[in-house]
Amino acid sequence: MRIILISLLVFQSATGFSTRHMGEGQALYEHHCARCHGTDGARGMFGAKNLQKSLLPDTAITLQIRNGKRIMPPFKKRLTPGQINELSAYIKTLRKPAI
Ligand code: HEC
Repeated sequence: MRIILISLLVFQSATGFSTRHMGEGQALYEHHCARCHGTDGARGMFGAKNLQKSLLPDTAITLQIRNGKRIMPPFKKRLTPGQINELSAYIKTLRKPAI
């Protein structure tokens, strides 16, 4: 029991937050998008665009998540419109101001 508790604590401090405090957008992003885009948006796996540098407006983001583009799969069957909105809001928080 003690070992389980300790590893939970270590896990929580390593990630800096617990899943309970994670916003829905972030949880969705880490589940569906991070394998290509990375948790920070800059992984670029399979040619994924760097979301820190993306300038896409909201409507285009929503469309791209719904319909996908090239290697990026469409999510409209897997996510509700509300979840897609949460995701668009979250990925914009990954943006860094242009240098
Ligand atoms: C299988 C890998 C993969 C997954 C999973 C994936 N993407 Fe992508 N994403 C890509 C690729 C590849 C592109 C570049 C498409 C192109 O323009 O050629 C891209 C581009 C984008 C863009 C456009 C950025 C720009 O400036 O043009 C957005 C926004 C985006 N992804 C968001 C998401 C979100 C949100 C999710 C999760 C719901 C997600 N992606 C999941 C591979 C992926």
